[in-house]
Amino acid sequence: MPVPMTPNAPLLVRNATLPDGRQGQDLLAEGGRIRALGPGLPAPAGAEVIDARGWLLSPPLVDAHFHLDSTLSHGLPRTNTSGTLLEGIQLWGELKPLLTEEATAERALQYCDWAVARGLLAIRTHVDVCDERLLAVRALLQVQRQVAPYLDLQLVAFPQDGLLRAPGALSNLQRALDLGVQVVGGIPHFERTMEEGARSVQILCELAAARGLRVDMHCDESDDPLSRHIETLAFHTQRLGLQGRVTASHATSMHSMDNYYVSKLLPLLAEAGVAVVANPLINITLQGRHDTYPKRRGMTRVPELLAAGVNVGFGHDCVLDPWYPLGSACMLEVAAMGLHVAQMTSSAGQRACFDAVTVNNARILGLEGYGLEVGCRADFVLLQARSPEEALRLRAQRLCVVRAGAVLSRMAPAVAELALPGRPAAVDFTRGPHATPPPAPPARPEQAPSLE
Ligand code: FE2
Repeated sequence: MPVPMTPNAPLLVRNATLPDGRQGQDLLAEGGRIRALGPGLPAPAGAEVIDARGWLLSPPLVDAHFHLDSTLSHGLPRTNTSGTLLEGIQLWGELKPLLTEEATAERALQYCDWAVARGLLAIRTHVDVCDERLLAVRALLQVQRQVAPYLDLQLVAFPQDGLLRAPGALSNLQRALDLGVQVVGGIPHFERTMEEGARSVQILCELAAARGLRVDMHCDESDDPLSRHIETLAFHTQRLGLQGRVTASHATSMHSMDNYYVSKLLPLLAEAGVAVVANPLINITLQGRHDTYPKRRGMTRVPELLAAGVNVGFGHDCVLDPWYPLGSACMLEVAAMGLHVAQMTSSAGQRACFDAVTVNNARILGLEGYGLEVGCRADFVLLQARSPEEALRLRAQRLCVVRAGAVLSRMAPAVAELALPGRPAAVDFTRGPHATPPPAPPARPEQAPSLE
């Protein structure tokens, strides 16, 4: 059944709970923006009304780190047997010559469909530029244009095989920027030496400063406790006046670094305004593969970074590709893994993880008009949960996804029917009285069929 699209009619959401705990809130969307927010709003003539039944209304989920050019390619041309980052890169290198622009775009579009249904309405994706044809760049620029009415896609020019290591990578990256890719990427830990890695960081930061672009590098994605590219990135960020526009993605080596060194590094990152993106699902599975026991978790130091005043976001990174054979565009799953790996199980910790897939990522992408305030874009998701903590615990159902005041996706509440003597007829796994009515029971025969 097609989802009704009513972009011009006002939309009134009644009786929602907001992430800050306010209950009984109505939200009026009109002309693509939030026009009013508060209890007991009158419904304008002709408005579509959604009864939120007290469920959680959140700004949309945002992914600050993804690879849309490789998504849904799992098994092509083979799978990653060691599970390591390096075999994943090798496997991607085998697949690249076999890619077509059409198939790459189609896989990306399918992922964007999943994203919208999951309330994920903004994605920063790295796109490999180590290819003379720039096939993936052209495919994703086309996808970006196609999905623009319903999903913000931000592209990062990513020299997967090394800016200085791969022949032609720098000129390809510049060509990708000329074509319209908006963010400068990098991979210093994959260059041939630490010195080359540091030089690549400098070149890329200077390029971004000259073009007025943001930077987002895969930075120190290893278990090497002596990897120091994040320090170099912070230095050039400050030197070039790029504060607030630079992101260090992964930064997994920080997990293994010496504690004294980290005590010096964290204030440097805060001072330079460098954001950090952890990718919990991928870090926990790719890192530590060279360890016996104990095996390192490999995720960067999320609570310590937050305590130092660094903006930390979470990314999905991979779904069904050479690096990760799982995933379904669920940023609540990402956040739930993040809070487990970082042991952020307190209520404040859980809310910080919810922020890491919503507001923190929106800051990293520089999204205009993001949030649930009057004047913001009317983009939001209704979750079958009463709080951010419950949304994470349940990876809550996305009951309704709205973009610029138009409903893009609806999903029935998750509810199980029960047939237990003296117990409720249904459960929806939320606490308190059952807010979700059970589905209508299927028609039953008058007499139960014999089992014999
Ligand atoms: Fe990545």
